[in-house]
Amino acid sequence: DASDISKGTYDTFMLKEIDEQPAVMRKISSHYFDGKKINVDQKMLKDVADADRLYIVAAGTSYHAALVGKDIFENLADVPVDVELASEFGYHMPKLSKKPFFIFLSQSGETADSRQVLVKVNELGFHSLTMTNVPNSTLSREATYTMELLAGPEIAVASTKAYTANIAVEAVLAKAMGELKGVKAAKDLDLQGQLALAANAIQTIVDEKDKFNKIADDYLTGKNDAFYIGRGIDYALSLEAALKLKEISYIHSEGFAAGELKHGTISLIEKDTPVFAYINDGIGAAHTRGNIQEVTARGAHVLVIASKKYAEKGDQVIIPEINEMISPIVSVVPAQLIAYYASLARGNNVDQPRNLAKSVTVE
Ligand code: G6P
Repeated sequence: DASDISKGTYDTFMLKEIDEQPAVMRKISSHYFDGKKINVDQKMLKDVADADRLYIVAAGTSYHAALVGKDIFENLADVPVDVELASEFGYHMPKLSKKPFFIFLSQSGETADSRQVLVKVNELGFHSLTMTNVPNSTLSREATYTMELLAGPEIAVASTKAYTANIAVEAVLAKAMGELKGVKAAKDLDLQGQLALAANAIQTIVDEKDKFNKIADDYLTGKNDAFYIGRGIDYALSLEAALKLKEISYIHSEGFAAGELKHGTISLIEKDTPVFAYINDGIGAAHTRGNIQEVTARGAHVLVIASKKYAEKGDQVIIPEINEMISPIVSVVPAQLIAYYASLARGNNVDQPRNLAKSVTVE
């Protein structure tokens, strides 16, 4: 309705949409859960659970949500997952598995790059699901099944709440698949409880806006380059965090696998180069600490964003307790806010950055 697409008391849609994320998490939880029962199309569930491999196809921020989803589906639904850029996959289709199932992630449901893949998938006769924020969109109508992101209209070009909603909806489907297949990890995960925790955790972060405004000032004023680093789940997250920053602040920023720094990127580190390091991934935590020392020794200005579980004295941003697999739902929020304030400080049009469109309907 019309009230959903006004800025209300906000100056920008982006900040409003960042702030809406706790409510979106609660909405996803109440929509997709009925007590313990998961509310998804049962025909779809059987179809997707029967696949021997999932191909998740997307562009931009939705592609980054797909990278996070890979871990979630592999763990909870016990199925191998390929994550594909729509603009590449359509033209260079790899040899497919015997029983593939295609999942399209698209906030708008209108991205031409993704649609051209879906057209081919339909020609080949394979089944597909579109996860989208716009249920009557082209990708929704042309796929076999649809799951709604339920994030409400997203107006700012830089996607925020659709990313976090998409990860949550991937987790819902993965859990339903895993339960159907008898996967222990799926049965053991209290996803409703986790989504409630996520909502509260995001709330504590968005309640500290001044802190992130100050971080943006301290770390990014006058800077032309910045890096996000992490391992495992934090690597996938770093790609999205860096995209947020570059698309609206126009600061050149890159997300890197922390272990790859030494294979090239570390040559870019000079005195006061901003490096944002994520530590939510338990397996990678100790090694990422080592990488932080390496860049610090070369003069980098490092900000550590660590989950409570792995935090050490001196870490600047602490992420409240949340299941590691879905942790990007929470740990992306500091990056959204840092990007927002960096863009604002430069006097950019936060909601409508130069050269970008909300949905790209050309290939
Ligand atoms: C555009 C937007 C991005 C978005 C991408 C994919 O490039 O600027 O923010 O992530 O399209 O959009 P979709 O609607 O398919 O998720």
